[in-house]
Amino acid sequence: MNSVTSFVLNGEIVSVEARPDMTLLDLLRDRLGRKGTKEGCAEGDCGACTILFSRPDTGKEHPKPANACIMTVAQIEAAEITTVEGIGDGALSDLQARMAENGSSQCGYCTPGIVMALSGLLARNDHPAEDDIHDALAGNLCRCTGYKPIVEAAKASLGISFPKPNETGDLSVRPSTSAGGSTVVRPTTVEELLTAKRDFPDAVLLAGGTDLAVSLAAYETQWQHIILASSVSSLRTLDVTEDAYDIGAAVTWEELMHAVLEDYPSFATLIKRFGSIQIRSMGTVGGNVGTASPIGDGPPAMIALGATVTLQSLARGRRTFPLEDFFLDYRKTEMADDEIITGFTMLRPKPNQFFRTYKISKRYDQDISTVCGAFNFMLDGDKIVEARVAYGGMAATPKRAPNAEAAIVGNALNDQTATAFANALALDFTPLSDWRGTDTYRMRVAQGLFRRLVADHGGARVEVMAS
Ligand code: FES
Ligand code: FES
Repeated sequence: MNSVTSFVLNGEIVSVEARPDMTLLDLLRDRLGRKGTKEGCAEGDCGACTILFSRPDTGKEHPKPANACIMTVAQIEAAEITTVEGIGDGALSDLQARMAENGSSQCGYCTPGIVMALSGLLARNDHPAEDDIHDALAGNLCRCTGYKPIVEAAKASLGISFPKPNETGDLSVRPSTSAGGSTVVRPTTVEELLTAKRDFPDAVLLAGGTDLAVSLAAYETQWQHIILASSVSSLRTLDVTEDAYDIGAAVTWEELMHAVLEDYPSFATLIKRFGSIQIRSMGTVGGNVGTASPIGDGPPAMIALGATVTLQSLARGRRTFPLEDFFLDYRKTEMADDEIITGFTMLRPKPNQFFRTYKISKRYDQDISTVCGAFNFMLDGDKIVEARVAYGGMAATPKRAPNAEAAIVGNALNDQTATAFANALALDFTPLSDWRGTDTYRMRVAQGLFRRLVADHGGARVEVMAS
């Protein structure tokens, strides 16, 4: 089995023997001497380690920012990676020069990550609006400078992109690599993936790694076997038909965010908030659902929108059922050990449909929800004729609110119905208290979201994101 991983780093092909479970950050700094990429939090929160990443299967698509501290060598085979040493063609890039002139850096520790996040923005958008700049920086912390001079420098760099990597020829993806006692298998079909899962029952099933890879730095975990789900092209497909979205399990949240932006802008806003672009560009829908977090973030909205999930095993083939039935109890799911999630379907809007989802968290960007509510109504005028309501953060799993749904169907979407909704919701959930919020706080917030919904429907407050 091959022990070498090959990829393109700053325009040059690099081949290196490294454990597949080594983080890209360790590879860059400790093995390849690229010390410009910094380590801050080592768990995907601060952006100091931001690099630009192009997947091997996405052709000449613009590179996306990603956090090297939660990427692994397993994921970089045949990919293109640009670090801060690879921009500017030997001199400061225009953005870097403007940051220097503008006092956009003090201790400088965050600066390479900020330069890379903004370079990623400029590479895909010649004329970013101020909102785009703020979004590009949502995953980057600066403790000393403050963001204004950084944003000003980014604005002054409008229309200027950084040099693209040289032409490097095609690298092909090796089906497996093994080094230092860690092995990665890169299946290309679901059948190959399921076979690998059968052969290596202890294997880590890795897609974006934004959750799993935190353990590598934080707990010094080692992975003996890795199966790379994102190398299966059918799992990376996102089809939008007239009626529905067909979402492969390894589709990223960034991809889904753009796909739902027109149909469900409040869902797109939710996605934008639950991870920075570094996280959204790597984190996958299947990974998020599969972790079965009680908060969920994605699942409440998907459940309200009537999503189904499809599982597949070698022994029993495929089965598809409503996503709400996937979650059984705290971190327990309907998925058997020999199954994987292959994808989801989610319906597109119909006439007279009204959908909103709201996330309440301590911080606007990049935070875990205290409560997340999603509301999907069919309306006849103001009258609610069908209702699907789902919450995260209110129970051991993301969950529908059957009593609240029943209490509002047949009634008008107005403040009078809010009382019936609130009373019934108290029968649906017995939330827990934790450091994010008490049980009483959670219930009052969850009840209050109906009033926000009424205000949004009346046009008083509509939460949408810039495209
Ligand atoms: Fe903080 Fe990677 S070191 S995001
Ligand atoms: Fe010091 Fe940003 S300049 S952390």
